[in-house]
Amino acid sequence: MLPNVLPPSAADHVPVLANEVRESLAVRPGDTVVDATFGAGGHSELLAADLQGGGKLIAVDRDPTVRAYFDRLARRSSVQMRLLRGDFGVVLPQLAENGVRADAILLDLGVSSMQLDRPERGFSYATDAPLDMRMDTSQSLSAREIVNEWPERELVTIFRRFGEERYARQIARAIVRERTDIPFERTGELVETIKGAIPAPARFGDGHPAKRVFQALRIAVNDELGSLEAALPAALEMLRPGGRLAVISFHSLEDRIVKQFLRERERGCTCPPDFPVCVCGHEPELRAVQRRPVRAGEAEIAANPRSSSARLRAAVKAGSDA
Ligand SMILES: C[S@@+](CC[C@H](N)C(=O)[O-])C[C@H]1O[C@@H](n2cnc3c(N)ncnc32)[C@H](O)[C@@H]1O
Repeated sequence: MLPNVLPPSAADHVPVLANEVRESLAVRPGDTVVDATFGAGGHSELLAADLQGGGKLIAVDRDPTVRAYFDRLARRSSVQMRLLRGDFGVVLPQLAENGVRADAILLDLGVSSMQLDRPERGFSYATDAPLDMRMDTSQSLSAREIVNEWPERELVTIFRRFGEERYARQIARAIVRERTDIPFERTGELVETIKGAIPAPARFGDGHPAKRVFQALRIAVNDELGSLEAALPAALEMLRPGGRLAVISFHSLEDRIVKQFLRERERGCTCPPDFPVCVCGHEPELRAVQRRPVRAGEAEIAANPRSSSARLRAAVKAGSDA
């Protein structure tokens, strides 16, 4: 089995939509940049280069293993850099509350290739590993606990809500039946149970049969949607007027939260449409950088298939520089 901390390698994470992120954030020398999902530092490296030696980069990640990547980048970069380990849904509100202000904030959501590719983290249905899926390895809740201890109806809810799994009920029932004899310990055991619970034709359509349940468990273990909902208003508060926020999401549940948040804050007046004149006086807080979400092009998808589901949305904070 691989150790939990491996020496960083250049192939660990290819930053998704890298040029589009750079253009959207338009980082200038002297800026303060917050990379709230540092990962292997691919985006941070590019944004630090845009600071051209002057400015600050604050990196955030809840996964302790990113430290090696951060140290490597900090050694090579002339930019002032700090790593804050923690959930961006907690760290960004704390930074905002402490008066930290930023010119550019990036959230590149979800798991990194290095998390997916390290079997011992238990994120992948493709390799047999302990049932884990914690991004923060010091957290107590893991996929093992959810699969073995959560009531059947809660399993159905998360498989439906976070995985959009058609056979949520059948899969949850099969899990509960099997765990009464022997608890689930490994991803491979769960994959076999999922395969056995769904009708044979469904095993061959629409990707790996365990894909949606694994996504659902990962979102639940890491409270991914709750963290995003807490982070977005804090990111807006941290931005200076004219500052920019860019968010890359990889599935519709995240993208919906981002889209709704940006829409609400881009809208000025909140008066009912039949009011002849505005009485609320609300001004837009954000302006969209692009009219539609940015998707990866064919060349990027061919080189990095993970980018095919990526959607980038970016906005500028209203104010003097906007
Ligand atoms: C898609 S990767 C980011 C890759 C990075 N942009 C790069 O170029 O290397 C997502 C990273 O965000 C981290 N992450 C996800 N959700 C988080 C959260 N709520 N708080 C802090 N970090 C989070 C994960 O641990 C992972 O390292």
